[in-house]
Amino acid sequence: MLAILGAGGHGKVVADCAAAAGWTEIGFFDDSVAAGTHVASRWAVMGTSGDMLARAREFGGAIVAIGDNRTRLAWHERLATAGAKMATVTHPSAIIGADVTIGDGSVLVAGAIVNIATTIGKSAIVNTGATIDHDCRLGDGVHVSPGANIAGGVSIGAGSWIGIGAAVIGRIDIGSYVRVGAGAVVIKSVADGLTVVGNPAHPIERN
Ligand SMILES: CC(C)(COP(=O)(O)OP(=O)(O)OC[C@H]1O[C@@H](n2cnc3c(N)ncnc32)[C@H](O)[C@@H]1OP(=O)(O)O)[C@@H](O)C(=O)NCCC(=O)NCCS
Repeated sequence: MLAILGAGGHGKVVADCAAAAGWTEIGFFDDSVAAGTHVASRWAVMGTSGDMLARAREFGGAIVAIGDNRTRLAWHERLATAGAKMATVTHPSAIIGADVTIGDGSVLVAGAIVNIATTIGKSAIVNTGATIDHDCRLGDGVHVSPGANIAGGVSIGAGSWIGIGAAVIGRIDIGSYVRVGAGAVVIKSVADGLTVVGNPAHPIERN
């Protein structure tokens, strides 16, 4: 069974990707959805995060489907430390180039493309139709939102979030825990912790 922590919208998407990828048994754990509830009329909620942690070694695979990058990564570490076999889920329509490495607990949603020689850390999300070009380095817990495009040779630090439809030009460095706004066009490197928006992208605040 694939155990998914987080029965919200993203959890539903992860389950759908996992089912398409061949997982036949899928169960959810969530602290705010009652056990016995069914997600998308298909997959049962089986207990809380504490229940999942206690049963960590029992599952064929485990993945955290919590949208917040820090929280997702923290739970990924907690479950891995408890002995869970953290699964990587790739929708069959995703395209992965040669020499790409993808860390445990990451998900590639339908239509994602990751090009040659890119490395993606653990518990990352490459969301619907997002593209990551060649020779990129994405840290742990990064989320590239639907339709965002990352050009070649870009590095993105741990926990950063690239908003829906954003574009990042080649060979620049985006720091850790950066937020790139929806539709932003990032044309120069971004320091850790900044939120940038617009075209060209400019900072609005420090997280
Ligand atoms: C960038 C972002 C994270 C900022 O969120 P926030 O901290 O709550 O910021 P606010 O909404 O308070 O906006 C602050 C200012 O930035 C502007 N702003 C926010 N997001 C913007 C964007 N994407 N493009 C241009 N300007 C933006 C706001 O208009 C506001 O300007 P003002 O101070 O002149 O009124 C958010 O707006 C965003 O774009 N999130 C991405 C969502 C997404 O991709 N979801 C996909 C999930 S799968």
